[in-house]
Amino acid sequence: MKTLKTQVAIIGAGPSGLLLGQLLHNAGIDTLILERQTPDYVRGRIRAGVLEQGMVELLRQAGVGQRMDAEGLVHGGFELALEGRRVHIDLRAMTGGKTVMIYGQTDVTRDLMAARQIAGAMTIYEAQNVVPHGMKTDEAFVTFEKDGETYRLDCDYIAGCDGFHGVARQSIPAESLKVFERVYPFGWLGILADTPPVHDELVYARHERGFALCSMRSATRTRYYLQVPADEQVENWSDQRFWDELKCRLPGALAESLVTGPSIEKSIAPLRSFVAEPMQYGRMFLVGDAAHIVPPTGAKGLNLAASDVSTLFNILLKVYREGRVDLLEKYSEVCLRRVWKAERFSWWMTSMLHRFDDHDAFSQRITESELAYFVDSEAGRKTIAENYVGLPYEAIE
Ligand code: APR
Ligand code: PHB
Repeated sequence: MKTLKTQVAIIGAGPSGLLLGQLLHNAGIDTLILERQTPDYVRGRIRAGVLEQGMVELLRQAGVGQRMDAEGLVHGGFELALEGRRVHIDLRAMTGGKTVMIYGQTDVTRDLMAARQIAGAMTIYEAQNVVPHGMKTDEAFVTFEKDGETYRLDCDYIAGCDGFHGVARQSIPAESLKVFERVYPFGWLGILADTPPVHDELVYARHERGFALCSMRSATRTRYYLQVPADEQVENWSDQRFWDELKCRLPGALAESLVTGPSIEKSIAPLRSFVAEPMQYGRMFLVGDAAHIVPPTGAKGLNLAASDVSTLFNILLKVYREGRVDLLEKYSEVCLRRVWKAERFSWWMTSMLHRFDDHDAFSQRITESELAYFVDSEAGRKTIAENYVGLPYEAIE
């Protein structure tokens, strides 16, 4: 067995692992990232596209904000289309000037990968059978295989940045974790197309046939979603069927101006709320999707990963610079405060905007009334806006 050594072993080269790696590297802390997939696979994944200001600032702090600042679209608001009625949520006015940045996770990942390569920091792609060990001891290490060879990576700490299906959370004994979960009875069918956006802001539409979202990646590329049953097959959806259904769920004026075109990508994602507590097991820390999942309705998944990264980075900085090891056990508590607020908001947006087949007539009216209350009241719109732009990052002490 070959032995390697680093300060922080990072499992997973998604946005969490790459961003943490970049911040630590810039601070002079040695990291090694182990990723199961190939670089092309990681670069090719299409995910969310709305960055909160906190994440935008963190990317700039990590030195990877140039392309985002040049090409990202700053949005000062979004639209809710409620059974045809259009309501503008003025993020800027409601939050004292805050905005969100439209910039795809695919692009964030590509920028971070490029920066890591330039920095000369090590990432081992196609690492097989990655397993963390000794988390509860002073000798944590990770074993893995690469090209038929077995390696042992000795480290001070392990960052489990390996997503919902990763090995980090699964390596924690079941009795040491409490899991909170809700699976929704529907998914999102998404398409990517090189068409101009139907509107200059994102449109979240509630309709009796189900939810729809009009998002974008740039002035020439759109990302649209439809609520579909959880067991729906993507093969059942021709581009034509998708566009017809989207038109049906949008207010008339938007439906009429919708420009359609061939899809570049089409896929179905399930919707889930999930939190594992605590987000730490000895010397191993769970970051991002490894610890929690939100349904995408509030655009919070990627942003929560960024706030976890910020918390872990700030704690590790204190550990390595000032010997403040006492802060390590605060990681989970600090993260979970913000995680649960975003879980609540994502659950709420999902509950308000989707069609639930099992809702009786009374529940239906209560939801309509709750939404009407929120959008007709300035306090209500403010609540939506301050959650959408992102609640403040929690201090580590
Ligand atoms: N060994 C090594 N790498 C692994 C393993 C494993 N056993 N299991 C998973 N990975 C890798 C995956 O291939 C992936 O590249 O870990 C990475 C996890 O990345 P993501 O799933 O993207 O999770 P994260 O980085 O936390 O990103 C946050 O926010 O918008 C949401 O879900 C969206 O991915 C996004 C997430
Ligand atoms: C996206 O652009 O993919 C997107 C935008 C907003 C959401 C979810 C997804 O709430």
